[in-house]
Amino acid sequence: MSQRETWATRTGFILAAVGSAVGLGNIWRFPFQTSANGGAAFLVVYLAAVLLIGIPVILAEFSIGRRANVDAIKAFRTLDHSGWRFVGAIGILASFWTLSYYSVVGGWVTRYVAGSVTGNALAAPEGYFGAVSAGLPAIVTHAIFLAVTIGIVAFGIERGIELATKFMVPSIVVLLIALAVFAATLPGASEGYAFFLSPDFSVIVEDAATILPAAFGQALFSLSLGFSVMITYASYLGRDDSLLADGLAIAITNTFVGVLAGLVVLPLLFAQGVPPGEGGAGAVFVAIPTALAELPGGGLVGRAIGVVFFAVVFIAALSSAISLLEAVVAYAVDTFGISRAPAAIGLGIAGFLLGIPSALDTAWLDWFDGIGVTLFLPLAVLSVVVFVGWIMGDEAIDELRRGSDLTGVGPAWLWTLRTFVLLVVVLIVALNFNDLFLTPDAGYYIVPGPLR
Ligand code: TRP
Repeated sequence: MSQRETWATRTGFILAAVGSAVGLGNIWRFPFQTSANGGAAFLVVYLAAVLLIGIPVILAEFSIGRRANVDAIKAFRTLDHSGWRFVGAIGILASFWTLSYYSVVGGWVTRYVAGSVTGNALAAPEGYFGAVSAGLPAIVTHAIFLAVTIGIVAFGIERGIELATKFMVPSIVVLLIALAVFAATLPGASEGYAFFLSPDFSVIVEDAATILPAAFGQALFSLSLGFSVMITYASYLGRDDSLLADGLAIAITNTFVGVLAGLVVLPLLFAQGVPPGEGGAGAVFVAIPTALAELPGGGLVGRAIGVVFFAVVFIAALSSAISLLEAVVAYAVDTFGISRAPAAIGLGIAGFLLGIPSALDTAWLDWFDGIGVTLFLPLAVLSVVVFVGWIMGDEAIDELRRGSDLTGVGPAWLWTLRTFVLLVVVLIVALNFNDLFLTPDAGYYIVPGPLR
């Protein structure tokens, strides 16, 4: 077998992982989760969730990936636990599943960059969204977005993903800072800040049953955990750097981008008197253009800001889509010995086909999203936690220590995984299953929306 690829630099690995983590979840979901769940108080709970759940789980995925050095399914055989290959399989399936509709949304974003240039996206936001989000236009942009994703993944780890994300992630941060500075100059921005940042701890106490799982779920989702993506990315680590330091850097950057996005989105909406609404995949495409259209300057300022904003969303979505395709491609390459480029093209086309229902009807997209996020994701995370905590055990500590001498941290980490993290994840699984299978009117029922 030819030499397996590795990341060229440590920063390259960190940026690629941040690229995966930073996506629509940060730019849209996070600000709204925060403001809908008690503002700064939610922020505190979320930060705790990242620290207590997110970081232990990302380290768990890293330790599997770096130790095994192969794709996320074969990894379990390499670690002498073939019976656990289903863990990687759920994750890879989740990645493929998610890629199919993520790329449909990526296609909308692509369309919105163009629509901001021409101004069409701002002229009649609701009508524009209806026209581009479903049917043939959505299929076309879905194909375009996937083609770009395939192109980058086909070039491989170092010359494709690492090179691309090295430019993409800094661009996201710089552009978001510029947008946040602009948003701060808008009259009425302070109301947005208040909405986002004012703590209301009483809400947390009252609604603990919904807010705690929301914060913990957001932490897992936002760090791209449970999709075999972090296992796969860590499998390309040829060096022995501190996994703990890398995991911390990734989690901190990801949270920073989420907060930054909140400082852009909420002042913008409040300054223009656009109600933040309920969130959801579609809302960003109506509420933001509506707010942008209201900006002074005869529409030009709004269009310019729109181009930058949707370009940021595009880059964020692309760097996440790359990681989704890579998890699946790594499997095809490592396990079946297929070359990278044909694997990326073939699997990309399969993802395109699976995404067609989502491109035809947003109700299908919601359904795919619901199954992925509430069924695959928690099950995969649960099995990773059980595997690393109770099956790998000391071997995982050994892997964590490679490249750093952390005497006390290893056991503390393992016991956190074995007990606290396990408990919380079981709780999330139980709540999600309740919504999926036992609550007919909950957002994500097991019967697809369009067929109900
Ligand atoms: N973390 C991404 C976001 O915040 C969403 C996501 C979840 C994801 N799991 C993933 C992206 C796996 C890529 C791969 O938007």
